[in-house]
Amino acid sequence: MFEWINGHNLFIADSGESSLPPVVFLHGFPFSHEMWSGQIDLLRGRFRTVAFDFQGHGRSDIGDGQYTIEGHVDDLLAVLDRRALDRPVLAGLSMGGYVALRALERHHDRFRAAVLCDTRSEADSNEARVRRHVQMTMVKTAGAAEFADTFLKAIFAPSSFPRHPDAVAFIRNIITHTPPLGIAGTLLALAGRTDTTGALASIRIPTLILVGEEDMITPPAASRSMQERIAGSELHVIPGAAHMSNLENPERFNALLKEFLERVGR
Ligand code: MLT
Repeated sequence: MFEWINGHNLFIADSGESSLPPVVFLHGFPFSHEMWSGQIDLLRGRFRTVAFDFQGHGRSDIGDGQYTIEGHVDDLLAVLDRRALDRPVLAGLSMGGYVALRALERHHDRFRAAVLCDTRSEADSNEARVRRHVQMTMVKTAGAAEFADTFLKAIFAPSSFPRHPDAVAFIRNIITHTPPLGIAGTLLALAGRTDTTGALASIRIPTLILVGEEDMITPPAASRSMQERIAGSELHVIPGAAHMSNLENPERFNALLKEFLERVGR
């Protein structure tokens, strides 16, 4: 369904009875809520799941191409308020994790637990910012399909191309349907995001950290650093996966997610 939130239309997938414990899923860049389809199916009947497309992605409005992680947090909080969700579990992958970490920094009391997947608390380095600029130029001149072909090699493990061709095609299809303006605008938002490392010590809710063993974008070392700072957090490194751990090793990812949610999410 579409909802008018903070001056733009967002596409929101809200499934399950309102009496069930809620889990909110935040997608990575430049994907859509559909990247969580496997996990939404997994939790059907046990949890209410809410997943939405960030502005500039999926079926949500593109707007003027000017976004910030701060604005995505505002949208997340408005989506929660609209539903009066009682302390949901907050799960985010990569950019979804950046949004989750900033939301926790602003309002850690609003969430029951957190699942941080293939993400990091540090802001971009200067080198990363320069790389974002190159990617922005590329997507604006060559288009989303060419951007997708390069980006897929960075986010999937080499072995995932022959082992999970459907997952690769699925993500490629989402990226190629994302307007270049949405991709370029989000690259600027990623480059400009704040560093949430200083706030990790104030996270006092159960936290599960998952990362693909071969993740090059947000490597296991970044997850270890978060785990050291978040008291009581659990870290699992997922074999046979790079940055898209929920799609590259869904069996292991789903088993860890389900066990955690059954334990702390209800
Ligand atoms: C993502 O998957 O959200 C992005 O790769 C994050 C990033 O580039 O920092």
